[in-house]
Amino acid sequence: MREFSVPQERKLVTELPGPNSIALQARREAAVSRGAGTLANIYMDHGSGAILVDVDGNQIIDLGCGIGVTTIGHAHPAVAAAAAEQAGKLTHTLFTVTPYENYVKVAEKLQQITPGDFDKHSILVNSGAEAVENAVKIARKHTGRRAIVALDHAFHGRTNLTMTMTYRPWPERAGMGPFPGRSTASPPATRSETGSPARRRPSTRSTTSPPTSARPRSRRSSSSPSRATAAS
Ligand SMILES: Cc1ncc(COP(=O)(O)O)c(C=O)c1O
Repeated sequence: MREFSVPQERKLVTELPGPNSIALQARREAAVSRGAGTLANIYMDHGSGAILVDVDGNQIIDLGCGIGVTTIGHAHPAVAAAAAEQAGKLTHTLFTVTPYENYVKVAEKLQQITPGDFDKHSILVNSGAEAVENAVKIARKHTGRRAIVALDHAFHGRTNLTMTMTYRPWPERAGMGPFPGRSTASPPATRSETGSPARRRPSTRSTTSPPTSARPRSRRSSSSPSRATAAS
């Protein structure tokens, strides 16, 4: 059984946020762009397993987990040791310039642990949005087809194309257009959104523009694509 450096329990020693978090928040407001919004202005110092310890010494249960990505828990000794070993050996060479074994090892691991008994190859990129963008590029190049199907209520990221594929019109897309045209399929567009008659269900709406019902009225004009963009 794993030993944790912090007892796996919630323990508050100050109000939340505590004084050190409040001081950091003031520094942050002076230095960090407001575009990087946060849900809880409680600043973390370290973590162990399922517990985060903030800069005031409060222990809280981490139900956020980096939006579900730190599933192995914080500061797992094996992960920390592997990261320290790698940092001591080699930090960055850019695989496409001078390759290294660990990239290959990750691709081999993905072959083993992903479903399907067929030939699989991977590329590794920096973020989810970059992965989605590359998947679209590869699919377009391979198939010669242009349109992309994304599910209703899907979230795909915050880059230009992945915002287009993301259903939620606000806050991600508001005021960020124009977007690439004919990228996703979900309910049909209305004339007011595309400048052309509504298309047939189930799969031909260009979500360069969000559904009228879901878009805040005051933001409608700023998030609408141009007619040319929607038709591209
Ligand atoms: C399903 C899905 N796709 C794409 C992304 C975008 O990932 P990133 O924020 O790493 O660009 C996310 C991020 O939350 C996601 O949940």
